[in-house]
Amino acid sequence: MNSPPWWQEAVFYQIYPRSFASSNASGVGNLEGIREHLDDLVWLGVDALWISPFYRSPMADFGYDVSDYCDVDPLFGDLAGFDALLDEAHQRGLRVIIDWVPNHTSNEHPWFLDARSGPDARHRNFYVWRNGKGDNTEPPNNWVSAFDPGQPAWKFVADDRLENGGQWYLHLFDPAQPDLNWDEPAVEQAHHDILRFWLDRGVDGFRADVIHCIAKDPALPDDPVGSAGIPHCALNDVEAVHPRLRRLRSLLDSYPGDRMMLGEVYLFSTEAVATYYGTGDELHLAFNFPPLYAPWRADKWRQVIEATSSAFDPRGAWPTWVLSNHDNPRHRQRYDDQASHHGEDEATRHRRSMARARAAAVLLLTLRGTPFLYQGEELGLLDAVIDSGRRVDPGGRDGCRHPIPWTAGEDHGWPGEPWLPHAPEAERQNVESLKADEGSILHLYRRLLDLRRRFPELRRGSFTLLDSPPGTLSFRRSLDHEKAVIDIRINFGGEPVVVPLEAGAPEWILLASGSQGSGTRFPGVLGPDEAVLLGALA
Ligand code: GLC
Repeated sequence: MNSPPWWQEAVFYQIYPRSFASSNASGVGNLEGIREHLDDLVWLGVDALWISPFYRSPMADFGYDVSDYCDVDPLFGDLAGFDALLDEAHQRGLRVIIDWVPNHTSNEHPWFLDARSGPDARHRNFYVWRNGKGDNTEPPNNWVSAFDPGQPAWKFVADDRLENGGQWYLHLFDPAQPDLNWDEPAVEQAHHDILRFWLDRGVDGFRADVIHCIAKDPALPDDPVGSAGIPHCALNDVEAVHPRLRRLRSLLDSYPGDRMMLGEVYLFSTEAVATYYGTGDELHLAFNFPPLYAPWRADKWRQVIEATSSAFDPRGAWPTWVLSNHDNPRHRQRYDDQASHHGEDEATRHRRSMARARAAAVLLLTLRGTPFLYQGEELGLLDAVIDSGRRVDPGGRDGCRHPIPWTAGEDHGWPGEPWLPHAPEAERQNVESLKADEGSILHLYRRLLDLRRRFPELRRGSFTLLDSPPGTLSFRRSLDHEKAVIDIRINFGGEPVVVPLEAGAPEWILLASGSQGSGTRFPGVLGPDEAVLLGALA
């Protein structure tokens, strides 16, 4: 049997470089900090890293506003430092994909500085310029920006040389992130060159930021009336994106070594997301966010799992699973916020919320598809509580971007005051303390990653939902016509549940997220918020 490509079997780990680790006292993480911690990631057992942007940037969107795609921001290091990091990761068997931000540049990118200098500028058509409505005082259409749905996705630039006094440029995100015009062939060409620059340096692929937005309806029609307040980027889905993706795929395929592209397709329809795989000739993987937004409830998870299989399987598209990232509250925080805490003391609340985070780790790492971990979820961290005076993100996402606590000591391994405050509980939920505790969530993630290595059924086995009592979810991963079977059973509720096993179902606990011991026979009861992996072998 042919082995599946590496990106189907890998577990990815997202590094948000500002907050991962710092080798200096700047309070901001850097590439050297990542390099210094590669062995921690190998110890954990992940296979691939996705590194969020480290390019030159004025940091209006913390690196997602790029002013030079082919250089490292001095805050993070330099190109030689990147090469060293990539080399050392590869030596350890870790693949590395990097973020690529094709939809927009920084307003300080030389292309935009030139483009805004006037209507005849060489790069004018690199961006989307239009006249406004009426007497040019109203934006060209009703699209709203992703960071502030009360604001148009357009900004006016006055220019006396123009008959009507100026033009508007499109920005689906911050005004400091003008959208590129991919209908201009020179834009596509320039971006292909950027990808080649990094492919030649040896990266294994890219995470393509809001990739579905690189094509827009050239008529720029108003968004439908019922969509008020929904950012245009979440609605934008036009056919013209697909030939562009196919050309990107050909570019990647022209390189040796299985280079890949993972697209952020920020659409809320799983059906629509599935189309971005084409017929195996577009994206290798796409993020599918409905599961990230699903609450900690068995019925909701059953729904998103079924929706994913029915949209993805007929196309042979390989799903991805994500619970947390740098744009959303951490899942331990979300699941804790959703639960009722009536009459609960702090210790009980902590225990329950950790139990959910532990069961969620089992879910994430046993579904069929490629899982993505967000730095710090293996530490069971909550979001940082940030005073209004320290909030910096235009999209209000600071809470999940706190620094990673490496040590138990007061600075948690950060030599300078970090750019954002630490997460609550950092004094116990830090790498040093959790490594020393075999029962910790960090060790649970490590054991799950180890089980994935040992049991191919977890990586590439078929997936079947099993009957399961209300409030629980059970599914089977199996290979070779059920010769190798692992059943996963998860309780999404705060009370123990009796889970009867089907005749012949595996009943030996390979791992339990709660208190049941590995290597024992499953007694037919799941503890509160407990997940188990059951195998046939004692
Ligand atoms: C993506 C990124 C987000 C960024 C936005 C604009 O959604 O994940 O962090 O702000 O694109 O680049």
